[in-house]
Amino acid sequence: MKLAFTSCADPLDSPQQPVWAMIAAKRPDHLLLLGDQMYMDYGAGLNPGNGKPAEFDDLEFAAHMHHRYQSQWAAMQGSGLWQLPGLQVHGVWDDHDFAWNNSYGGAGPADADEDYDAHELPVPPRKQQISRHLFRQFFRHLRAPVYPANELTTEAAIARLAEDLRQPVFHSEALPAGAPEGRVVLAPGVNLLLTDGRSFRSSQERPHAQRTLLGRTQMDWLRRNIDDHAVSIIASGCTLDRNGELTNPECWSNYPDHDELKAFLALRPAAQVLLLSGDVHNTSLRDDHGPNLIEVVASGAARPMGNVILHDRGNHAVLEFGPTTIRVGRHEGEPPVHTWNSESLIDRASWRVLS
Ligand SMILES: [Fe+2]
Repeated sequence: MKLAFTSCADPLDSPQQPVWAMIAAKRPDHLLLLGDQMYMDYGAGLNPGNGKPAEFDDLEFAAHMHHRYQSQWAAMQGSGLWQLPGLQVHGVWDDHDFAWNNSYGGAGPADADEDYDAHELPVPPRKQQISRHLFRQFFRHLRAPVYPANELTTEAAIARLAEDLRQPVFHSEALPAGAPEGRVVLAPGVNLLLTDGRSFRSSQERPHAQRTLLGRTQMDWLRRNIDDHAVSIIASGCTLDRNGELTNPECWSNYPDHDELKAFLALRPAAQVLLLSGDVHNTSLRDDHGPNLIEVVASGAARPMGNVILHDRGNHAVLEFGPTTIRVGRHEGEPPVHTWNSESLIDRASWRVLS
């Protein structure tokens, strides 16, 4: 079984996205997208400055988001991905496709009397309805010959959206539409757990103990679904901690969920967890989080900063599950300039990286 994954693609600043053909050439059985499937803002290039979409009215917000998803759909056509027999697509979201940079849907700042800008406050329910609708539309139409026009062109159309915002958002072709739980059996003994790291996340303008990343309900669900007799792949938009990153305040370690997950795993030595994450525009493989927790980061599918040396384009990873090992292939960069490949093996018995 072969699983390819990546995150962070900007269809406006990087409409040519060779990453998808590179992935298709590896003929994966599963493609997992870990968020920032497009960028509502970025602060450079063709997107508005970070946080600006918070100032958009709902119609403007919907039009911007629909345009980006349609452009991203176009960037993936012709890659050969949709002709792969049996390919299943799964996805979660992160901040730039949820609403704007560092956006969240949970509890706002503790000191609500302070003057906060709109982008520092929780994403309003109406905008969450729009982004849920358009996230689902994008994934449903990946293989469609034509992308649907924007339906959200009137206030009335937006008012009719009626998702239950208490349910997490994710996509999997292996699950029925609107399935309440993102648990997918990828192969015998290999489960994929799709998390929504944005809808329930709280403001960081709260004391650490009063914050949450996944929310209580989703965290309890995750604990129930980490199985002692299977590999548990946690799909997460953001990384576990900020190791190697100068500024990554969005990671798990800034929330109590991080220590809770590690404490839980310490009591479950037979669990084998593979946390796959995105967000940071590079790739890495780490087995220093604890004895039964390995993290693989694959981010920077198509996120140009005007400097190919930064390796923020073409990045992806492929996991190939064998009976005794998992081969982890990581790729950064776009040919012909400055590409980089690495291959490592995870030993399934010891749950350590061998090479
Ligand atoms: Fe990103």
